[in-house]
Amino acid sequence: MATRKKTAKPTNNNGSPDPETELRTAAGYGSNNQKLDDLAGNLEESAGELLTTNQGIRVNDNQNSLKAGDRGPTLMEDFIFREKITHFDHERIPERVVHARGTGAHGYFQVYESMAEYTMADFLQDPSVRTPVFVRFSTVVGSRGSTDLARDVRGFAVKFYTQQGNFDLVGNNIPVFFIQDAMKFPDLVHAVKPEPHNEMPQAASAHDTFWDFISLFPESMHMIMWVMSDRAIPRSLRMMEGFGVHTFRLVNARGKARFVKFHWKPLLGLHAVVWDEAQKISGKDPDFHRRDLWESIESGNYPEWELGVQIVEEKDEHSFDFDLLDPTKIIPEEIVPVQRIGRLTLNRNVDNFFAETEQAAFHVANVVPGIDFTNDPLLQGRLFSYLDTQLIRLGGPNFHEIPINRPVAPIHNNQRDGYMRQTINRGQVSYDPNNLRGGCPFQAGMDMSGFTSYAERIDAQKIRERSPSFFDHFSQATLFYNSQTEVEKDHIVRALRFELGKVETPPIRERMLYLLAQVDKGLANRVADGLGLQIPAKLEKPMNMSFPADADPKQFQPKKVKTEFTASPTLSMVANPNFEKRTIKTRKIAFLVADGFDDDSVLEMKKSLMTAGARVCTVAPHLGTVMSVGGQIANADFSFLTAASVLFDAVYVPGGEASVNTLKDLPEVFEFINEAYKHCKTIAADGQGSEILRLAGLSAGTPSDGSNGEDQMSDTGVVVGSNGDIKGLATEFIQAIAMHRHWDRERMISQEANDNGKPIRPPQRSQPREVKRT
Ligand code: HEM
Repeated sequence: MATRKKTAKPTNNNGSPDPETELRTAAGYGSNNQKLDDLAGNLEESAGELLTTNQGIRVNDNQNSLKAGDRGPTLMEDFIFREKITHFDHERIPERVVHARGTGAHGYFQVYESMAEYTMADFLQDPSVRTPVFVRFSTVVGSRGSTDLARDVRGFAVKFYTQQGNFDLVGNNIPVFFIQDAMKFPDLVHAVKPEPHNEMPQAASAHDTFWDFISLFPESMHMIMWVMSDRAIPRSLRMMEGFGVHTFRLVNARGKARFVKFHWKPLLGLHAVVWDEAQKISGKDPDFHRRDLWESIESGNYPEWELGVQIVEEKDEHSFDFDLLDPTKIIPEEIVPVQRIGRLTLNRNVDNFFAETEQAAFHVANVVPGIDFTNDPLLQGRLFSYLDTQLIRLGGPNFHEIPINRPVAPIHNNQRDGYMRQTINRGQVSYDPNNLRGGCPFQAGMDMSGFTSYAERIDAQKIRERSPSFFDHFSQATLFYNSQTEVEKDHIVRALRFELGKVETPPIRERMLYLLAQVDKGLANRVADGLGLQIPAKLEKPMNMSFPADADPKQFQPKKVKTEFTASPTLSMVANPNFEKRTIKTRKIAFLVADGFDDDSVLEMKKSLMTAGARVCTVAPHLGTVMSVGGQIANADFSFLTAASVLFDAVYVPGGEASVNTLKDLPEVFEFINEAYKHCKTIAADGQGSEILRLAGLSAGTPSDGSNGEDQMSDTGVVVGSNGDIKGLATEFIQAIAMHRHWDRERMISQEANDNGKPIRPPQRSQPREVKRT
C-alpha cells in the first residue's frame, strides 16, 4: 500500500510551468531532505487562484449568504454558506492532555561516525547520510495558549524519519521524572494541572494540589530539585539540554545489547532567565520561546545539538548505587561519560502550525531495529499511553497517514479502513497468510531489517510491587543540590519559597519542609525562613504515603544510600564544564536611541556585535525612524511601549548629546536599565550615554587596566567607554555579554544568609540607585 501522494507534476497540460511546482521550489522543498519532499505533495497556496468550495466549485460571492430578499431569512439551500460555517465549527481538535503548548521545526540529523559496534539502527551508520527530523518542544502543564515562560519541564520530542521507519525520541529537558511507575501518571498530572473546582492556576505548579501530592510522595524529590532550578526557565529552547530520561537498549547486528541513556547537548550553551524576568516575559511576550526559535531559523541561525549517549555494558547493570530502571535517577557523567555521536540541526520552520506541529504524534514505542526498551516501569506505561491518547486526539486509527506523521519508509500491511482513511488499498486480500496475493506482504527477516524484540530473559512472579532498589528517594536530590553554585542554590531556595508561598494549606508547607530537610538541612532552613515556619521535628503520617492498601507502610519508606559522589559539576548550568566555551551568537542587544545619536557610537558597535553573531535592535521613543547627528537615518525596531529589557540579553546606550538629553527625560529608559541591572545583564554606554547610567545609579569604579577609573563601572557587567575607542568598548561589551549573566550582582544585592548561616556579602554600592522621573 503506498500511502504517499506523489510529488506534483512538473508542468501543466499546456506545458507551462506548474504553479504548484514553482511554489514548492520557492518554499525550499526539493531539497535533499526526503521528508520535506514528501510533504511537498500536500502543499497548497492560494496566490493567483480563484476561490472555490471544498468540492472545487468556484465561489462568486463570499460576502453575503443566500436570503429570501435583501432583508429576509437565510435559505437552507445555501450550500456555500453551510459548508463554510460547518468547517469552521469543526476546526478545533482536543489539545494534548499534557504538553499542549508547543512549537516545532524541521531539520536533519547526521551521525559523526558509524555506531555499528553498538547498534544496527540504520540512521546511526553512515556519516554522509542526513536523516530528516521533526522536533517539537513543549511545556507540560499549561494549555495550548499558555505562556512559554512558565516554570515547568520542557518536552524535547524528536521524530527521526529513517529509512527503517520512524524513530521517536520523546524526551524532556530534565533527565529524571517525578514518578517511578506509570500507574501514578494520572495522579501526578491531576495534581499539577489547574485545580478542577476553579480551573486555577494556569500553567503553574505553585498551588495546593501539586504540593499536597508531592509532600506525600518523596520519590519526586530529585525531580523537584531540577524543576525548582533555573533549568525550568530556559533562556531559549535553543539553549537547553534534552534527555531520553529512561534507560533504553542499543542492539547491534550480532544481537549484542547494551544499556543506553540519550542526551542532547546544545551548541549555544546552557542558559536560563531569572524567575522575576520569566514572570515579566509572560506578560510582555507569552510567545517568547516560540518566537525566538522561529526567528533564529528564519534568519539562518540554525539551532544545533549534539546527540550524546551513555553506554553501559549489560554485565554492569547492577554495579551502580541506584537502579538503571529507576527513571528518578541519572547516571552521573563522571561515572559514565557522555559520548557525542552526531548532530541535530533545525533549519526549517513549519508551513502550517496546525498541519505540522499540532498534528504531530510522537510515541516512545516508535523505535527502529537496533533500539529497544528496558523494563523501566514508567517507560513500559508510556508504551501504552501515546497511541491510545492519539486515537482520540487525532480522531481515529489513521493518524499515521497525516503528512507530518507518515514515515519516508514505505508502509505495507493488512490494516484497513477507519475514519479518514487516505490510502486506497488495491486488491482482494487483507489478511495473512494468503495465497491469493502470493503471501504478500512478506514478513522481513532480521537480515532485511525486520524488527526483532531483544530476547531478554525474564524469570519472575506476576506481582504488583516496587523493587527495593527504587527506594532511595533523596541521595540524587542531594547530589543535584550540592552540585549547584551558590547563586543557583539561591534560585532554588527562592523558587521553593515562591511555590510553597502560594500554597494556602499550612500543613502542606510543613510536610514539604520536612522532605526538603532530608535533601539538605541548609536548604530547608532557608526555605523555612522565607515562609516564616519551622521545620517540623517529625511527621504525623509516614513520609511516603504511596503504598498498597494491605501493605506495611514501613516497607515503603525512603531508604538512605551512601553514594559515590557528593557533587557533579555537569549538573550545574553555571559551572558546567561541558559548556565552558561562551558565545554571544544570536543574543539580542537593545540599543536605546533618540534623534541626535552619535554615528560612530552606533555604527561601529553594531558592526562589532553583528560580526560576533549578535542581533541588534534599536529601541526609540517612537516607531518609524531616528536620525543621527551626522544625518544617518535608522529604523526604530521597537518603541519603549513595544519593548522591555526582559526581551533582550544586553543593553547599550550610545553617545550623542541630543539623543541622551531626550532619553534622560523618559522614565521608561530608567526602568529598562534598572531591570536589566536587576536581572544581571550586561549594560554598556558610550560617550554621553554614560550619563544615563550615572543617573540610574550605576557608579564609576576602578577600571580593569588600573587607569583613572573613568573607563569602567564598579558593577561587573557594566562597561562604559571613553575617548571614542568604540572598538575597545565593543570587545569588553562582547566579553561581558558572553558571560550570559553577572550573578555576583544578585548576591551583592541580597542580604540573606547562605546555607551555612553566613550572611551573603552585603551591598558594596556607594550610592543608592535612583530612577529619574519626569
Ligand atoms: C507514564 C508516564 C507518562 C505518560 C502516561 C505520558 C503521557 C503523555 C501523553 C498522553 C502525551 C500527549 C501526547 C499526544 O497527545 O500526542 C504526552 C506527551 C509528551 N510526553 Fe509524556 N507521558 C509520560 C511520561 C513522560 C516522560 C517521562 C517524558 C519524558 C521523558 C514525557 C515526554 C513527553 C513529551 C515530550 C510529550 C510531547 C510530545 C509532543 O511534542 O507532541 N512523558 N505524554
